[in-house]
Amino acid sequence: MKKSYGEYFNKPSLKSARKRLTKDTPNIDFQRHINIKDVGQGKHYLIQTYGCQGNEADTETMKGILEALSFKETQREDHADLIILNTCAIRENAENRVFGELGRLKKYKRINPDLILGVAGCMPQEEDVVNRLLEKYHHVDLIFGTHNIYKLPEYLESALMNKERVVEVLSEEGSIVENMPKKREHHSKAWVNIMFGCDEFCTYCIVPYTRGKERSRKPQAIIEEVKELVKSGYKEVTLLGQNVNAYGRDFTDINYTFADLLDDLGQIEMPRIRFTTSHPNDFDEQTVKVLAAHANMMPHIHLPVQSGSNAILKKMNRKYTKESYLKLVQTIRKHIPNVSLTTDIIVGFPGESETDFKETLDLVEQCDFEGAFTFVFSARKGTPAANYQDNTAFTEKKERLQRLNTIINAGYKRGHDRFKGKTVEVLVEGVSKKDDHIMAGYTRHNKLVNFPGDVSLVGTLLNVKVNETKTWFMQGEIYEDA
Ligand code: 5AD
Ligand code: SF4
Repeated sequence: MKKSYGEYFNKPSLKSARKRLTKDTPNIDFQRHINIKDVGQGKHYLIQTYGCQGNEADTETMKGILEALSFKETQREDHADLIILNTCAIRENAENRVFGELGRLKKYKRINPDLILGVAGCMPQEEDVVNRLLEKYHHVDLIFGTHNIYKLPEYLESALMNKERVVEVLSEEGSIVENMPKKREHHSKAWVNIMFGCDEFCTYCIVPYTRGKERSRKPQAIIEEVKELVKSGYKEVTLLGQNVNAYGRDFTDINYTFADLLDDLGQIEMPRIRFTTSHPNDFDEQTVKVLAAHANMMPHIHLPVQSGSNAILKKMNRKYTKESYLKLVQTIRKHIPNVSLTTDIIVGFPGESETDFKETLDLVEQCDFEGAFTFVFSARKGTPAANYQDNTAFTEKKERLQRLNTIINAGYKRGHDRFKGKTVEVLVEGVSKKDDHIMAGYTRHNKLVNFPGDVSLVGTLLNVKVNETKTWFMQGEIYEDA
């Protein structure tokens, strides 16, 4: 049966999402919006998360809101009264997976006609996706985007109580909502959003459209959150933003940069601080110095380069050159000599020649990366690069990806080898997937280590001596001081 639309029917527009009209960002306090009604009493939810850490953090917020409304989490699709897919739009295959999943989940609507199926996150921010959902996926009841998670209580009331279909995707510039409840996935490490959105407009990227304009949380709100996490026993935080180095650029009342934020967080007794993602163009020497000055700043920097060819970097609107990137890497290594660097690379950008690709391989060799996320270019409708002429065959692009990955994988191994025989500090995360007596954790350089131990060690920081290194992980044993 086709449901009627209720109060909410707002479709997105990529054209509006492109606009950057004001610098000021409204700050909203969640408490004023929460609808206290126990709409979730006796009901179960399940959220599937796709994409980046930003989505993982958003899922924690959705779970927090749902539990505040008395929903309980379930892992079983056949037990769920509400299933939400928190989606990613960065590449076409991410989207195809979600459409496939929506097809598969249809059977649960037949078993339980009251099941609410929702699509959230970045995909609903694209008008074509919403049109396709409205035309072909009538079993989807709830569609909302990245800007209005805080309105989930109202949407659920409409969908559950009034049995109405809810479609509300906002394409305006976005706000910051503080004090949203969160159900954190981990007990020893946490995500902390420091900013939202992106104003870089790299020509291949959909994020500035799906996540809106760059807007920074107030320093005090971030510092308080990290202090609270220390009190709750957390050992590690990862500061999140699409371009963390642009933090504070949008403040109109104070002069406060990412380096200032790191300097303030460096004084807090949080044992480990990480951040992602950086943009090379905005990464200044002051930031590097602050990182070097504090023992709780982890010596791992993820610094997406995307390409080593100046012509391609220009077409990508990255605003730096191969030479300036290499210089930044040199500056980082000067101040943090044992740093571990990882990166993101796109191969097969429109117009990328074999010579351009070789420039990328050359840059990779020079930078000594210890890991990378590598992708074949995916045309995203609405972005400039989707209209660029592209004469390279897909098979050729795949081959370039393989050639690149061979070098990248050797980098992973080298990054592990340098710790062989050494003692490393590990934050224990859990038991290994394959063996209950093997524990898994991450080092300060963000390397995965397995070692014999028991579950009581989860959440602790301890020293492990590395005995064996593989491409994807290291093996060791707990090192007891004499
Ligand atoms: N095609 C392929 N890869 C992309 N990325 C972003 N947009 C695209 C696209 N259209 C990659 C970039 C970015 C990472 C998160 O995803 O490398 O750093
Ligand atoms: Fe996308 Fe570029 Fe912004 Fe990163 S910096 S989110 S690649 S537009």
